[in-house]
Amino acid sequence: MKIIAANFKTNHTRKSTNIFVNNINTFLEDENISNDVYIFPPATALDNFDIKSNLIVGAQNAYCVKNGSFTGEIGTEQLEEFDIKTILIGHSERRHVLGESQKEIALKYNYYKALGYRIVYCVGEPLEVKQSGLTETLGYIWEQFDGIDLDYDNLVLAYEPVWAIGTGVVAEIEDIRTIHKKIKKKIQKPLLYGGSVKPANLSDILDIPNVDGALIGTASWIEEDFKTMIKISKDK
Ligand code: 13P
Repeated sequence: MKIIAANFKTNHTRKSTNIFVNNINTFLEDENISNDVYIFPPATALDNFDIKSNLIVGAQNAYCVKNGSFTGEIGTEQLEEFDIKTILIGHSERRHVLGESQKEIALKYNYYKALGYRIVYCVGEPLEVKQSGLTETLGYIWEQFDGIDLDYDNLVLAYEPVWAIGTGVVAEIEDIRTIHKKIKKKIQKPLLYGGSVKPANLSDILDIPNVDGALIGTASWIEEDFKTMIKISKDK
């Protein structure tokens, strides 16, 4: 059964997230959809949602601390207020825009692993690495697993090529097939694909072997499109 995940990034307000989460919850119940559906809203929109379906709300990011003096960060005290037990770690925007190093990412991973969180761990190569060839691309991806315990039970992986994120350029089916096969051979965990996934291409992407779901940015921010994509995943 496929996993469908929405990463809101820096989009939606507390008010619009609340409406969105409630509507998706009702939709999953009404349509009898049993796939796991995740939504990662911005931190300001986390809340005690009244969820009765298999919808899971997670955090896009948090610091590896319970509480303390870390201006601008949130810790587990803030997550636990809302029973958040799912977190995205290693997303390309945190790596490449916010400058998180592999060392910092591994620290975060180990901290949240020790607390039993479900971790959606993201990897993916920038364009110049892809252009250097498959060996370089795989080498780059394997380095993104440095310090990461791949036997962790509550681990979900996401392959998101940086050049396909928010660009409208979706990876070729063949590219996704190749990379997913290589990752899956090494790590037997659910493996999502992310990067310009939308209603028009989701079905083909979910049909690729070793693709266990999708992590969707832009196209997930529109409720109707997200519902359409959940429906597409229902029979996959
Ligand atoms: P887009 O779907 O906007 O390309 O973003 C993908 C992503 O980064 C999901 O985490």
